[in-house]
Amino acid sequence: MKILVAITGASGALYAQRLLDNLDPRQHELHVVQSNYAQQVIAEELPGGLRLPAGVKSHGLKSMNAPFASGSNPPDAMVVIPCTMGTLGRIAHGYSEDVLLRAADVVLKEKKKLILVPRETPLSLIHVKNFELLLLAGATILPANPSYYSGAKTATELADTVVARVLDHLGVPNQLAPRWTEEKE
Ligand SMILES: Cc1cc2nc3c(=O)[nH]c(=O)nc-3n(C[C@H](O)[C@H](O)[C@H](O)COP(=O)(O)O)c2cc1C
Repeated sequence: MKILVAITGASGALYAQRLLDNLDPRQHELHVVQSNYAQQVIAEELPGGLRLPAGVKSHGLKSMNAPFASGSNPPDAMVVIPCTMGTLGRIAHGYSEDVLLRAADVVLKEKKKLILVPRETPLSLIHVKNFELLLLAGATILPANPSYYSGAKTATELADTVVARVLDHLGVPNQLAPRWTEEKE
């Protein structure tokens, strides 16, 4: 698969890091784009910064010289993780002024997979209306709501309960987080 990971300036940079850590660049063509504010949040939340695995292609925000800027060459899937409410609103309303937003626009119009991972809480009606618009347009809204039944002991393990669901929705086999047993004896 060709997968674009877009990172924005919401809290939860660890989710992006763990997703990148768990996508194999030998199996997938991986691209990354970061909003300007993503870099500020990464500086706050990821000691040592974002680690890009070898083989991942990083793209500047302001250049449209990226394959996914055109409907002729879309990724199979795009994940915006973590996703700010600003970027989510801009995607919902078709803003395409940088390559991250344009890529989301392309992914929706070409009927590819768009997964948005917002963290925001609480939600306003504006957020919910934007969720509705995006769901109607075919996006998947996958809030960064960790699950606690897995017995996670570290922040990374907790983040992985969200990243595992992202991988599931990408169709990437994974055993990143324990799954709920069907029935306990
Ligand atoms: C440390 C930090 C945490 C933030 N967390 C969030 C958040 O969880 N959700 C959100 O919508 N914005 C959050 N913001 C604000 C966004 O970064 C800001 O609205 C920015 O304009 C978003 O730009 P972008 O969507 O292009 O990344 C945060 C900002 C900082 C500095």
